[in-house]
Amino acid sequence: MLAVYLSSTCPVMVAPAMDEDMWHHPTTKNNLNLLYTHGARVLNVGNGELASGLVGEGRMAEPEEIVGELETFFRTSDQLKGQKVLVTAGPTYEAIDPVRFIGNHSSGKMGFAIAEEMANRGAEVTLISGPVSLKTKNKNVNLVSVVSAEEMYEKCAMHDDYNIAVMAAAVADYTPIKVADQKIKKNGAELSLSLKKTKDILGSLGKIKRDDQILVGFALETENETSNAEKKLKGKNADIIVLNSLNDKGAGFGADTNKVVLFFKNGNPKRIDLKLKSALAKDIVDSIIELKS
Ligand code: CTP
Repeated sequence: MLAVYLSSTCPVMVAPAMDEDMWHHPTTKNNLNLLYTHGARVLNVGNGELASGLVGEGRMAEPEEIVGELETFFRTSDQLKGQKVLVTAGPTYEAIDPVRFIGNHSSGKMGFAIAEEMANRGAEVTLISGPVSLKTKNKNVNLVSVVSAEEMYEKCAMHDDYNIAVMAAAVADYTPIKVADQKIKKNGAELSLSLKKTKDILGSLGKIKRDDQILVGFALETENETSNAEKKLKGKNADIIVLNSLNDKGAGFGADTNKVVLFFKNGNPKRIDLKLKSALAKDIVDSIIELKS
């Protein structure tokens, strides 16, 4: 089995099947995660009678479900063929001095999942990411690593000829006016930093957006979520704003799962329930493709 997997150069789908205790063992999770990070699509297990006679989680997905996944794979794998997609992900780090920076908790998982999903549908993807510990899997994702908001802005400006852009990065809104040449030494009880606004990447792409381009932004709100998301949609000339709520458990920064509402320029909002970021990426990409058709 291992020899077949290691020597295969085609896309791989894995349908795990085992006893419940084995399924819940951390080694199994680590191994499946490793397969996933190397690009394999891992299907969910079912819950029911197992080969051992026990009942529980670990049952192989039903053959109909496996065939369904294969059909979806072949139906969608060239949906975005020839399309240029620009995605931003992760945090930005704004240097204070040679050893310190202002950053945020973004893990980059949502942006990376969207970039992978776009590439799985046949797109040529440029993924511009701030500092994260993630790797790309699909060879059609071209990863451009940046550190600061200014660098992210410059790289995005070089890729403004996109068909679809999804701005999932948590870009710093402010950056130190002056970066100290040397490490700032402790001196007195307080330290004040003067900050200036960074360039709004989503907003500036919105200003020069052509009618045939689709621009998607994210919003992370803690209050007046709907009105703030709608304001962002109009103000930044986006086609979709994906609203994350920090009030939702299991959603947002760092988590593997997320729960969002999509606000469309034309159309009613769409609520997507809590799910894995990879599954959510599929729903977001589906909604973008619907706009194009
Ligand atoms: N964004 C960006 N460039 C910035 C700041 C934000 O492109 N300098 C993008 C993010 O990638 C995201 C969207 O703008 O897609 C929303 O970011 P957010 O910080 O929530 O919105 P702001 O417009 O900065 O408003 P506020 O922080 O006041 O909510």
